[in-house]
Amino acid sequence: MNILNKAFCRVFQFGFKVAIPVLPYRNPHILNQVDQIPDLLRKKNIKRLMLVTDPSIRGLGITKHLEDILKEQGFALSVYDKVQPNPTVSTVEEARQLYLEKECEALIGFGGGSSMDTAKAVGALIARPNSTLEDLGGILRVWLRTPYTIAIPTTAGTGSETTVAAVILDDETGHKYALMDFPLIPDVAVLDPETTRTLPPRITAGTGMDTLAHAVEAYIGNSTTKQTRREALRAVRLVFRNLERAVKNGNDMKARRAMLRASYLGGCAFTVSYVGYAHAVSHSLSGKYNMPHGETTAVLLPYVLEAYGTKIYPQLKALAIAAGVAHMDTEEALAAQSFIKAVWELNRRIGIGTKLKGIKREDIPMMARMAAAEGNPVYPVPVLMDAKALERFYYDVLEEGGTRP
Ligand SMILES: [Fe+2]
Repeated sequence: MNILNKAFCRVFQFGFKVAIPVLPYRNPHILNQVDQIPDLLRKKNIKRLMLVTDPSIRGLGITKHLEDILKEQGFALSVYDKVQPNPTVSTVEEARQLYLEKECEALIGFGGGSSMDTAKAVGALIARPNSTLEDLGGILRVWLRTPYTIAIPTTAGTGSETTVAAVILDDETGHKYALMDFPLIPDVAVLDPETTRTLPPRITAGTGMDTLAHAVEAYIGNSTTKQTRREALRAVRLVFRNLERAVKNGNDMKARRAMLRASYLGGCAFTVSYVGYAHAVSHSLSGKYNMPHGETTAVLLPYVLEAYGTKIYPQLKALAIAAGVAHMDTEEALAAQSFIKAVWELNRRIGIGTKLKGIKREDIPMMARMAAAEGNPVYPVPVLMDAKALERFYYDVLEEGGTRP
């Protein structure tokens, strides 16, 4: 990246960093059980609400208990259950229509990141009825209060239950973009491990590593605060202690609860301190080929950490200590390399590979440009890279032509 672009990125990021103390960040109120929701709604005087979820979550019966208790207790519940992985503009529009027809007063996003993001994006369109999602894409474009929103993650996780962001795919152009504004932070996050009990091992693994990527990318960036560093380290500790257990025994409710907490903490950290190029590259791949976000990011993360080089060794040492693979007196370079190795190893133990299937070489320059446009100047990454430099990551994970183990 040329020196002028670098200077522009760093000035932009510095502006946002100094503004952190005055920006209206807030952490959602936490409930530990779905059963606590009706009381909360009564306190808020909410009677009509819309549940946003996806067909498989509903088909598995995961939303049934909540639907039953809300109906039994006299709430007017509408259900939109057509969310797909990587939610699209047309999905959000359809859900908004239902919300308006049924005169709802609140939203529940129940599912993985896609369902929660759809609920948040519907909220943005309700707050700004004369705008399109594209108008509201980017930073600080929503402004106005969105309807009361409860997020119930069924994965641990995307962190969407606590973040300012809703990621949407334009189904006409294949462009994936994020709406990022403070009114999109859900009012309530329900961290109930029962909702993640039936999650298959592969999704537990991918979404768990997504949580790790949130915490790590937030921690190594330049816009951390004392609080986000603490949240990120706690999330990393919880992931290394619990993810493998949750993948290998889905009924281990202690591990499931710990992973939900990790997801929440990782989300709190990255919504203030941002993510980095593992996410930017991952978004371009899932936008182009509909690859699952968690697993894609998990594969990319160790390559990205290696590419940043010695610049992030001090941060990687702290992460290595949190992960339990180094001590205070471990030499810095050794500790840093131990952390990257621990990420490779954790991926391997939970069934995540080192390559991604289906990438076409001819698509790489365009995807790298999309990743650069997402990352720069917003993400305060430790080492800036332009589109050309980012191309290396696509080659790293190419099935037939990669360079890593
Ligand atoms: Fe993520």
